[in-house]
Amino acid sequence: MRTDTGQVFKLEDYRPSDYLIPETNLDFRLSPQATVVTAILTVERREGISKSAPLVLDGDGLTLKRVEIDGKTVRPADLLASPDQLTLLKPPAARRFQLRIETELAPASNEALMGLYRSNNVYCTQCEAEGFRRITYFLDRPDILSVYTVRIEASRDEAPLLLSNGNPVENGDLADGWHYASWHDPFPKPSYLFALVAGNLGQVADSFVTMSGRKVELGIYVEPGKDALAGYAMDALKRSMQWDEEAFGREYDLDVFNIVAVSDFNMGAMENKGLNIFNDKYVLADQETATDADFANIEAIIAHEYFHNWTGNRITCRDWFQLCLKEGLTVFRDHEFSADQRSRAVKRIAEVRTLRAHQFPEDQGPLAHPVRPRRYREINNFYTATVYEKGSEVVRMIRTILGAEVFRAGMDLYFERHDGEAATIEDFIKVFEEASGRDLSQFALWYHQAGTPNLTVSSTHNPAAQEFTLEIEQSVPPTPSESRKRLMHIPLAFGLIGAGGKPVEYDRVEGASVEGGVIHIRKRRHMVRFSGVAERPAVSLNRGFSAPVTLSVEQKAADQFFLARHDSDAFSRWQAFNTLLTDALIAAFRQILGGKQPDFAPRLTDLAGVIASDETLEPAYRALALALPGDADIARDIGKNIDPDAVHTARHALALAIGTANGEAFSGLYDSLADKNAFSPDAASAGRRALRNILLDYLSLLPGGAALAAGHFQSATNMTDRAAALAVLAHRHHGSSEAKKALAAFEKTYASDPLVMDKWFQIQASVPGPQAVDTVRSLTAHPGFSMGNPNRVRSLIGTFSSANQTGFHRPDGEGYRFLAQTVLEVEKRNPQVAARLATALRSWRSLEPGRQAKAREALVSIANTENLSADLRDIVERTLA
Ligand code: ARG
Ligand code: ZN
Repeated sequence: MRTDTGQVFKLEDYRPSDYLIPETNLDFRLSPQATVVTAILTVERREGISKSAPLVLDGDGLTLKRVEIDGKTVRPADLLASPDQLTLLKPPAARRFQLRIETELAPASNEALMGLYRSNNVYCTQCEAEGFRRITYFLDRPDILSVYTVRIEASRDEAPLLLSNGNPVENGDLADGWHYASWHDPFPKPSYLFALVAGNLGQVADSFVTMSGRKVELGIYVEPGKDALAGYAMDALKRSMQWDEEAFGREYDLDVFNIVAVSDFNMGAMENKGLNIFNDKYVLADQETATDADFANIEAIIAHEYFHNWTGNRITCRDWFQLCLKEGLTVFRDHEFSADQRSRAVKRIAEVRTLRAHQFPEDQGPLAHPVRPRRYREINNFYTATVYEKGSEVVRMIRTILGAEVFRAGMDLYFERHDGEAATIEDFIKVFEEASGRDLSQFALWYHQAGTPNLTVSSTHNPAAQEFTLEIEQSVPPTPSESRKRLMHIPLAFGLIGAGGKPVEYDRVEGASVEGGVIHIRKRRHMVRFSGVAERPAVSLNRGFSAPVTLSVEQKAADQFFLARHDSDAFSRWQAFNTLLTDALIAAFRQILGGKQPDFAPRLTDLAGVIASDETLEPAYRALALALPGDADIARDIGKNIDPDAVHTARHALALAIGTANGEAFSGLYDSLADKNAFSPDAASAGRRALRNILLDYLSLLPGGAALAAGHFQSATNMTDRAAALAVLAHRHHGSSEAKKALAAFEKTYASDPLVMDKWFQIQASVPGPQAVDTVRSLTAHPGFSMGNPNRVRSLIGTFSSANQTGFHRPDGEGYRFLAQTVLEVEKRNPQVAARLATALRSWRSLEPGRQAKAREALVSIANTENLSADLRDIVERTLA
């Protein structure tokens, strides 16, 4: 494990490398405990660099066997070698020379899952961000682009399949039952995109003909016997390839495209050139084992990694500060893909819910950082919702400001100008400035300044003057090490809506530039005057979530109810109802703290019934509308002095009120939604299941609810319905015989399927209440659980600490102590996963004082541990700062 050195990397310190590595030849002789890696690098001194400049290569825990330059062993006096660095003190005088380095690794003992490791006896790699230096000494930075040729040797029994990046060159037999394969990738790439896979895997094969008529062989490799579970991923891959041609004019560029699914993986997946490696959770699916959410994630992540071939691989990042250049843009591209494949409105609502649930708390807490950070201690801690999701929102805003056509012209220019390069955010912004002729310098603050901007909006109508005025004021709250903020350019889409839901016409507008339904906020305060407005309109603001901001709007409740029924922008209509729910929940929270019984306006609970049965709305949309803000959402909107128990009580009370007010209607609708057709994972069918399952959740609160949910569980013909019913039983009827029976039946059926058992762990980890910490602790001893597998850890520990507000925030602090202990245990094997788990404590300052003190103690107990990994020390110290 790499312990923290306190070193901080700064954007302003970037300078190009003295040396380049135009060619990389790698030879692997694979063995679980003693893999030998021979790297033959063509090294080139950059023009103008002194001959005496030492060559400093990165390493991480490496065992060096030999070093040769141009065929001659390097004298020990000319070398500085440690596990973490290799320095050639006197490189040859020639500008180009050949460096041969031999290292030895033990992939079977690599539990950090970075570099070369084994997952279920399959050799695989993860090199982003800095894993390549765990394989060989290298200039392990993304601006070093090299052409790779890779030869893999392994025992044929152990590893019949040998894969690497690029196109296959040759393969054949060796002595003693060994064999080899070699691969060549003609596209120069940074080391983080290197990949190797070797093992015994089953293959699903298909092909795709690109827009210029080239045939690409497609392969998805999974554990033997699981081929049938890769069909949906293959279909998603072909749709992704097609879509990128149509939407962005991007064609695939190699003869083969391979995807491998492995069961031990730190993140979702990885876009290695021509050889994507996936967490198997995002490949394997069928109706028996995967939920509709799993299908949607698979489609999105397959697309995401495929899209990286252009946004990430052909054009990569100059340095890791530019991570959003590839990630924010690629998330934007996968969002658009899913919107086109499914329902745009539903997709947008889901994206915004995710952004608010993950990015807003990050931006509003101690770990806040700009989309393009300026500093880091451990880059792995910057694969965040801010870089990814807010990064995507920033790209979306560029399109909103420029319009779809000019945006596409800018993207074309980006591909044309920077293909084959390692680029920066400045390069990216510049192509849009050139394509549009606009100055985006104020807009660029979205990349440079952390924090979620807030817009305060109030309106007045002057009937005599026929004038409607919006007063809009922007502010950006201070974030760590950025106390003073500059004024942002915020594109605020809006609509003025009159009686019957018709848009209100106006003659003129002054006070801000308004184009195509978007107000451009650039100053601290704008008085936006619309003239020729006879009647007071209702205002629909931030339509389609045009900017990732919070709004403080003075809006009459009547207007909010009106918008929740009539806003023609589907996102904003959802938003209006969601705001009504949130306001009611916060009021109920205050009533509960004041010792009162919460009550809810009948017109609110009735509206839930109206929306549920509105046949003009897609079922998926109705399901999203009926999904109450979660405990964590409510807490975030309350902001400070949080008592999670009171939040939960409020939420439960509203769910009960809605269920009670609409029992009959919900029940009829529930029955009518029962699926009589064969299962299909498409968005419309999934939407009907989603609506039926949320209705079940409400109905389960009424008399007979446990029996209804038990029946739903038993008669389920797919995992979506089965898991939904199990969650309802476990959460709404905790401890009941129905819940116990269903949990036991589920465990029995799926004991040998770890990905399905993850759902069983998740459902139990999120059962609200003080008993949760004990349940979770005892489940860590379950035979299906393992602290070494990231999916298991996230399902049980991650769910408990980030999705169980009452359980995790138990007033006596036991949840925090359990997390601290577990984080330290996980860290010994896998620092990256441990650091991610520890972020569950990032919002500790918004808790009420008692819990705040307990949470702080837990954080301090981690911080006081000696020899913490760079990953964990960075998170814990920033969280406490
Ligand atoms: N680039 C990958 C993606 O598609 C994420 C890899 C991050 N891995 C890591 N160890 N930090 O988003
Ligand atoms: Zn990515």
